[in-house]
Amino acid sequence: MKHFIFAALLVAVLTVLGILGLEQTELLPAQASLQAVGIDWLFDLHFKVIAFLFALIIGFMLYSIVVFRRKKGDTEDGDHIEGNTPLEILWTVVPLGVVLYFSFLGAQVLGDVERIDPLALEVDVIGSQWSWRFEYPDYDVVSTTLVLPVDQQTVLRLSSTDVIHSFWVPEFRIKQDVLPGDKNMIRDMRITPTEMGDFTVRCAELCGTQHAYMTAPVVVMSESEFTSWLDEQAALIPDNPVDRGRLWAEQNACLTCHSTDGSELVGPTWFNVYGSQETLEDGSTVTVDDEYIYESITEPMLRIVEGFPPAMPPALSENLTNEQIADIIEFIKSLKE
Ligand code: CUA
Repeated sequence: MKHFIFAALLVAVLTVLGILGLEQTELLPAQASLQAVGIDWLFDLHFKVIAFLFALIIGFMLYSIVVFRRKKGDTEDGDHIEGNTPLEILWTVVPLGVVLYFSFLGAQVLGDVERIDPLALEVDVIGSQWSWRFEYPDYDVVSTTLVLPVDQQTVLRLSSTDVIHSFWVPEFRIKQDVLPGDKNMIRDMRITPTEMGDFTVRCAELCGTQHAYMTAPVVVMSESEFTSWLDEQAALIPDNPVDRGRLWAEQNACLTCHSTDGSELVGPTWFNVYGSQETLEDGSTVTVDDEYIYESITEPMLRIVEGFPPAMPPALSENLTNEQIADIIEFIKSLKE
Protein backbone atom coordinates (compact mmCIF):
# COMPACT_ATOMS: atom_id res chain seq x y z
CA MET A 1 0.00 0.00 0.00
CA LYS A 2 2.89 2.32 0.87
CA HIS A 3 4.32 1.76 -2.62
CA PHE A 4 1.02 2.69 -4.25
CA ILE A 5 0.79 5.97 -2.33
CA PHE A 6 4.33 6.99 -3.30
CA ALA A 7 3.87 5.98 -6.96
CA ALA A 8 0.53 7.85 -7.08
CA LEU A 9 2.20 10.97 -5.68
CA LEU A 10 4.90 10.69 -8.34
CA VAL A 11 2.20 10.37 -11.04
CA ALA A 12 0.40 13.45 -9.68
CA VAL A 13 3.61 15.51 -9.71
CA LEU A 14 4.51 14.37 -13.26
CA THR A 15 0.96 15.15 -14.45
CA VAL A 16 1.15 18.72 -13.13
CA LEU A 17 4.62 19.19 -14.66
CA GLY A 18 3.37 17.76 -17.98
CA ILE A 19 0.38 20.11 -18.11
CA LEU A 20 2.53 23.12 -17.22
CA GLY A 21 5.05 22.08 -19.89
CA LEU A 22 2.39 21.67 -22.59
CA GLU A 23 0.91 25.06 -21.70
CA GLN A 24 4.32 26.66 -22.23
CA THR A 25 4.67 25.26 -25.76
CA GLU A 26 1.89 27.49 -27.23
CA LEU A 27 1.18 24.95 -29.95
CA LEU A 28 -1.85 26.85 -31.26
CA PRO A 29 -1.74 30.24 -33.02
CA ALA A 30 -3.91 33.19 -31.92
CA GLN A 31 -7.59 32.37 -31.40
CA ALA A 32 -9.50 34.60 -33.82
CA SER A 33 -12.91 33.02 -34.38
CA LEU A 34 -15.92 31.90 -32.35
CA GLN A 35 -15.50 28.39 -33.83
CA ALA A 36 -11.95 28.23 -32.46
CA VAL A 37 -13.14 28.51 -28.83
CA GLY A 38 -14.68 25.03 -28.60
CA ILE A 39 -11.88 23.47 -30.63
CA ASP A 40 -9.21 24.97 -28.37
CA TRP A 41 -11.11 23.87 -25.26
CA LEU A 42 -11.19 20.31 -26.58
CA PHE A 43 -7.48 20.49 -27.46
CA ASP A 44 -6.73 21.69 -23.94
CA LEU A 45 -8.70 18.84 -22.40
CA HIS A 46 -6.80 16.36 -24.59
CA PHE A 47 -3.48 17.85 -23.46
CA LYS A 48 -4.50 17.29 -19.83
CA VAL A 49 -5.59 13.69 -20.38
CA ILE A 50 -2.43 13.00 -22.41
CA ALA A 51 -0.26 14.47 -19.62
CA PHE A 52 -1.98 12.22 -17.07
CA LEU A 53 -1.63 9.05 -19.20
CA PHE A 54 2.03 9.81 -19.87
CA ALA A 55 2.64 10.37 -16.14
CA LEU A 56 0.74 7.18 -15.24
CA ILE A 57 3.01 5.01 -17.39
CA ILE A 58 6.29 6.84 -16.78
CA GLY A 59 5.59 7.36 -13.04
CA PHE A 60 4.97 3.68 -12.24
CA MET A 61 7.84 2.64 -14.50
CA LEU A 62 10.36 5.02 -12.90
CA TYR A 63 9.21 4.06 -9.40
CA SER A 64 9.57 0.34 -10.18
CA ILE A 65 12.99 0.75 -11.80
CA VAL A 66 14.33 2.58 -8.78
CA VAL A 67 12.60 0.87 -5.84
CA PHE A 68 12.36 -2.72 -7.08
CA ARG A 69 15.80 -2.99 -8.68
CA ARG A 70 17.73 -6.24 -7.99
CA LYS A 71 19.52 -6.19 -4.61
CA LYS A 72 23.19 -7.08 -4.50
CA GLY A 73 23.70 -10.84 -4.20
CA ASP A 74 20.05 -11.63 -5.03
CA THR A 75 20.08 -14.38 -7.70
CA GLU A 76 16.51 -15.70 -7.26
CA ASP A 77 13.74 -15.42 -9.87
CA GLY A 78 11.01 -12.85 -9.30
CA ASP A 79 7.48 -13.88 -8.24
CA HIS A 80 5.48 -15.49 -11.03
CA ILE A 81 2.33 -13.42 -11.57
CA GLU A 82 -0.34 -14.48 -14.08
CA GLY A 83 -3.34 -12.33 -14.90
CA ASN A 84 -5.42 -10.02 -12.74
CA THR A 85 -9.06 -10.04 -13.79
CA PRO A 86 -10.27 -6.99 -11.83
CA LEU A 87 -7.33 -4.91 -13.13
CA GLU A 88 -7.93 -6.04 -16.74
CA ILE A 89 -11.62 -5.16 -16.50
CA LEU A 90 -10.68 -1.77 -15.04
CA TRP A 91 -8.18 -0.88 -17.77
CA THR A 92 -10.66 -1.90 -20.46
CA VAL A 93 -13.76 -0.20 -19.08
CA VAL A 94 -12.17 3.10 -18.00
CA PRO A 95 -10.47 3.92 -21.37
CA LEU A 96 -13.64 2.85 -23.21
CA GLY A 97 -15.66 5.23 -21.07
CA VAL A 98 -13.15 8.05 -21.63
CA VAL A 99 -13.12 7.54 -25.42
CA LEU A 100 -16.94 7.47 -25.55
CA TYR A 101 -17.11 10.62 -23.43
CA PHE A 102 -14.64 12.36 -25.75
CA SER A 103 -16.67 11.37 -28.81
CA PHE A 104 -19.70 12.93 -27.13
CA LEU A 105 -17.75 16.15 -26.41
CA GLY A 106 -16.40 16.12 -29.99
CA ALA A 107 -19.90 15.84 -31.43
CA GLN A 108 -21.03 18.72 -29.20
CA VAL A 109 -18.17 20.98 -30.36
CA LEU A 110 -18.79 19.99 -34.00
CA GLY A 111 -22.42 21.02 -33.54
CA ASP A 112 -21.26 24.43 -32.21
CA VAL A 113 -18.75 24.89 -35.05
CA GLU A 114 -21.39 24.19 -37.72
CA ARG A 115 -24.21 26.16 -36.05
CA ILE A 116 -26.09 28.07 -38.75
CA ASP A 117 -26.85 31.76 -38.44
CA PRO A 118 -29.62 32.50 -40.97
CA LEU A 119 -28.32 36.08 -41.30
CA ALA A 120 -24.81 34.96 -42.25
CA LEU A 121 -22.98 36.91 -44.94
CA GLU A 122 -22.46 34.79 -48.07
CA VAL A 123 -19.08 34.62 -49.80
CA ASP A 124 -18.25 32.29 -52.71
CA VAL A 125 -14.65 31.13 -52.44
CA ILE A 126 -13.15 29.81 -55.68
CA GLY A 127 -9.80 28.04 -55.58
CA SER A 128 -7.76 27.63 -58.78
CA GLN A 129 -4.22 26.56 -59.46
CA TRP A 130 -2.83 28.66 -57.71
CA SER A 131 -4.95 31.52 -56.50
CA TRP A 132 -8.07 32.31 -54.47
CA ARG A 133 -11.00 34.45 -55.56
CA PHE A 134 -13.75 35.74 -53.28
CA GLU A 135 -17.19 36.73 -54.59
CA TYR A 136 -19.85 38.57 -52.61
CA PRO A 137 -22.99 37.61 -54.60
CA ASP A 138 -25.33 39.92 -52.65
CA TYR A 139 -23.15 42.94 -53.47
CA ASP A 140 -21.74 42.08 -56.94
CA VAL A 141 -18.25 42.42 -55.55
CA VAL A 142 -15.29 40.22 -56.50
CA SER A 143 -11.98 40.41 -54.66
CA THR A 144 -8.65 38.64 -54.33
CA THR A 145 -8.60 39.59 -50.62
CA LEU A 146 -11.08 37.94 -48.26
CA VAL A 147 -12.60 40.84 -46.32
CA LEU A 148 -14.89 39.90 -43.39
CA PRO A 149 -16.86 41.87 -40.82
CA VAL A 150 -15.97 41.10 -37.19
CA ASP A 151 -18.42 39.30 -34.84
CA GLN A 152 -20.73 38.29 -37.68
CA GLN A 153 -21.06 34.83 -39.17
CA THR A 154 -19.93 34.38 -42.76
CA VAL A 155 -20.79 31.28 -44.74
CA LEU A 156 -18.03 30.49 -47.22
CA ARG A 157 -19.22 28.43 -50.19
CA LEU A 158 -16.11 26.67 -51.39
CA SER A 159 -15.50 25.39 -54.93
CA SER A 160 -12.55 24.68 -57.21
CA THR A 161 -12.07 25.15 -60.95
CA ASP A 162 -9.49 22.38 -61.30
CA VAL A 163 -8.11 20.09 -58.57
CA ILE A 164 -8.71 19.60 -54.83
CA HIS A 165 -7.50 22.49 -52.69
CA SER A 166 -8.05 23.07 -48.98
CA PHE A 167 -9.12 26.34 -47.33
CA TRP A 168 -7.32 27.00 -44.08
CA VAL A 169 -6.81 30.08 -41.93
CA PRO A 170 -4.90 28.72 -38.90
CA GLU A 171 -6.21 31.44 -36.56
CA PHE A 172 -9.81 30.43 -37.40
CA ARG A 173 -8.87 26.75 -36.75
CA ILE A 174 -11.34 25.03 -39.11
CA LYS A 175 -10.18 23.66 -42.44
CA GLN A 176 -12.23 22.45 -45.40
CA ASP A 177 -11.37 20.70 -48.66
CA VAL A 178 -12.29 22.67 -51.79
CA LEU A 179 -13.57 20.28 -54.47
CA PRO A 180 -13.90 20.58 -58.26
CA GLY A 181 -17.11 19.52 -59.99
CA ASP A 182 -20.73 20.59 -60.21
CA LYS A 183 -22.90 22.45 -57.67
CA ASN A 184 -23.21 19.30 -55.51
CA MET A 185 -19.51 19.47 -54.75
CA ILE A 186 -19.72 22.95 -53.16
CA ARG A 187 -18.81 22.77 -49.46
CA ASP A 188 -19.97 25.23 -46.78
CA MET A 189 -17.79 26.50 -43.99
CA ARG A 190 -18.93 28.98 -41.34
CA ILE A 191 -16.65 31.47 -39.66
CA THR A 192 -17.42 34.13 -37.08
CA PRO A 193 -14.22 36.19 -36.77
CA THR A 194 -13.76 37.63 -33.30
CA GLU A 195 -10.49 39.55 -33.80
CA MET A 196 -9.88 42.42 -36.23
CA GLY A 197 -6.65 42.32 -38.18
CA ASP A 198 -4.75 40.64 -41.00
CA PHE A 199 -4.56 36.90 -41.54
CA THR A 200 -3.63 34.58 -44.41
CA VAL A 201 -5.55 31.82 -46.19
CA ARG A 202 -3.26 28.98 -47.11
CA CYS A 203 -4.00 26.02 -49.30
CA ALA A 204 -3.61 22.87 -47.19
CA GLU A 205 -3.84 20.26 -49.95
CA LEU A 206 -0.93 19.51 -52.29
CA CYS A 207 -2.26 20.84 -55.61
CA GLY A 208 0.70 21.27 -57.96
CA THR A 209 4.03 23.01 -58.31
CA GLN A 210 2.90 26.38 -56.85
CA HIS A 211 0.90 24.85 -53.96
CA ALA A 212 3.17 26.39 -51.32
CA TYR A 213 2.47 29.89 -52.68
CA MET A 214 -1.31 29.52 -52.94
CA THR A 215 -2.14 32.09 -50.30
CA ALA A 216 -4.47 35.08 -50.09
CA PRO A 217 -4.79 37.90 -47.56
CA VAL A 218 -7.70 37.94 -45.10
CA VAL A 219 -8.74 41.20 -43.45
CA VAL A 220 -11.24 41.29 -40.59
CA MET A 221 -12.71 44.76 -40.02
CA SER A 222 -15.56 46.44 -38.17
CA GLU A 223 -19.07 46.34 -39.58
CA SER A 224 -18.91 50.01 -40.69
CA GLU A 225 -15.49 49.63 -42.32
CA PHE A 226 -16.80 46.55 -44.12
CA THR A 227 -19.81 48.45 -45.49
CA SER A 228 -17.59 51.22 -46.85
CA TRP A 229 -15.20 48.64 -48.32
CA LEU A 230 -18.15 47.10 -50.23
CA ASP A 231 -19.13 50.56 -51.54
CA GLU A 232 -15.55 51.27 -52.63
CA GLN A 233 -15.32 47.93 -54.45
CA ALA A 234 -18.58 48.53 -56.31
CA ALA A 235 -17.31 51.99 -57.35
CA LEU A 236 -14.09 50.45 -58.68
CA ILE A 237 -15.82 48.75 -61.61
CA PRO A 238 -14.88 50.82 -64.68
CA ASP A 239 -17.43 52.27 -67.15
CA ASN A 240 -15.31 51.41 -70.16
CA PRO A 241 -15.84 47.81 -71.45
CA VAL A 242 -12.13 47.36 -72.27
CA ASP A 243 -11.07 48.25 -68.70
CA ARG A 244 -13.87 46.12 -67.30
CA GLY A 245 -12.69 43.21 -69.45
CA ARG A 246 -9.18 43.62 -68.07
CA LEU A 247 -10.59 43.56 -64.50
CA TRP A 248 -12.60 40.33 -65.13
CA ALA A 249 -9.56 38.75 -66.80
CA GLU A 250 -7.41 39.60 -63.79
CA GLN A 251 -10.00 38.45 -61.26
CA ASN A 252 -10.52 35.13 -63.05
CA ALA A 253 -6.79 34.47 -63.36
CA CYS A 254 -7.04 34.38 -67.20
CA LEU A 255 -3.76 36.27 -67.40
CA THR A 256 -1.88 33.51 -65.56
CA CYS A 257 -1.99 31.48 -68.80
CA HIS A 258 -2.65 34.12 -71.51
CA SER A 259 -0.13 36.93 -71.91
CA THR A 260 -1.11 40.38 -73.22
CA ASP A 261 2.32 41.20 -74.69
CA GLY A 262 2.89 38.39 -77.19
CA SER A 263 4.92 36.10 -74.93
CA GLU A 264 3.88 32.47 -74.87
CA LEU A 265 2.57 31.02 -71.58
CA VAL A 266 0.38 27.92 -71.07
CA GLY A 267 -2.24 29.22 -73.54
CA PRO A 268 -2.10 31.41 -76.67
CA THR A 269 -1.21 35.07 -76.11
CA TRP A 270 -4.04 37.57 -76.44
CA PHE A 271 -1.80 40.08 -78.16
CA ASN A 272 -2.76 40.54 -81.83
CA VAL A 273 -4.91 37.41 -81.62
CA TYR A 274 -8.24 39.01 -82.52
CA GLY A 275 -8.92 38.67 -86.21
CA SER A 276 -5.99 36.29 -86.78
CA GLN A 277 -6.22 32.93 -88.56
CA GLU A 278 -5.30 29.97 -86.35
CA THR A 279 -4.75 26.32 -87.23
CA LEU A 280 -6.64 23.84 -85.07
CA GLU A 281 -5.56 20.39 -83.91
CA ASP A 282 -7.43 18.70 -86.80
CA GLY A 283 -5.66 20.87 -89.39
CA SER A 284 -8.65 23.12 -90.15
CA THR A 285 -8.39 26.87 -89.68
CA VAL A 286 -10.51 29.33 -87.76
CA THR A 287 -10.71 33.11 -87.65
CA VAL A 288 -10.50 34.42 -84.08
CA ASP A 289 -13.70 36.47 -83.84
CA ASP A 290 -16.30 37.14 -81.11
CA GLU A 291 -17.96 33.81 -81.73
CA TYR A 292 -14.76 31.74 -81.50
CA ILE A 293 -13.58 33.53 -78.32
CA TYR A 294 -16.99 33.07 -76.70
CA GLU A 295 -16.85 29.35 -77.53
CA SER A 296 -13.26 29.06 -76.28
CA ILE A 297 -14.31 30.50 -72.90
CA THR A 298 -17.54 28.54 -72.46
CA GLU A 299 -16.51 25.26 -74.13
CA PRO A 300 -12.73 25.36 -74.20
CA MET A 301 -12.26 21.69 -75.21
CA LEU A 302 -14.26 22.01 -78.45
CA ARG A 303 -11.72 23.60 -80.81
CA ILE A 304 -8.16 23.87 -79.49
CA VAL A 305 -5.45 25.73 -81.39
CA GLU A 306 -2.67 23.42 -82.55
CA GLY A 307 0.31 23.13 -80.25
CA PHE A 308 -1.48 24.07 -77.01
CA PRO A 309 -2.46 21.66 -74.19
CA PRO A 310 -6.16 21.21 -73.27
CA ALA A 311 -5.46 23.03 -70.00
CA MET A 312 -8.34 25.53 -69.81
CA PRO A 313 -10.73 24.75 -66.89
CA PRO A 314 -14.16 24.00 -68.45
CA ALA A 315 -15.94 25.24 -65.29
CA LEU A 316 -14.34 28.69 -65.53
CA SER A 317 -17.19 30.24 -67.51
CA GLU A 318 -19.70 29.34 -64.77
CA ASN A 319 -18.26 32.30 -62.87
CA LEU A 320 -18.77 34.68 -65.78
CA THR A 321 -21.93 36.36 -67.06
CA ASN A 322 -22.40 36.86 -70.82
CA GLU A 323 -21.86 40.60 -70.24
CA GLN A 324 -18.54 39.89 -68.58
CA ILE A 325 -17.48 37.61 -71.44
CA ALA A 326 -18.40 40.41 -73.88
CA ASP A 327 -16.17 42.79 -71.87
CA ILE A 328 -13.29 40.31 -72.01
CA ILE A 329 -13.70 40.06 -75.79
CA GLU A 330 -13.53 43.89 -76.01
CA PHE A 331 -10.36 43.78 -73.91
CA ILE A 332 -8.81 41.16 -76.24
CA LYS A 333 -9.74 43.30 -79.26
CA SER A 334 -7.86 46.22 -77.72
CA LEU A 335 -4.64 44.23 -77.45
CA LYS A 336 -3.01 44.95 -80.81
CA GLU A 337 -0.20 46.96 -82.34
CU1 CUA B 1 -4.21 24.67 -53.82
CU2 CUA B 1 -2.51 23.51 -52.62
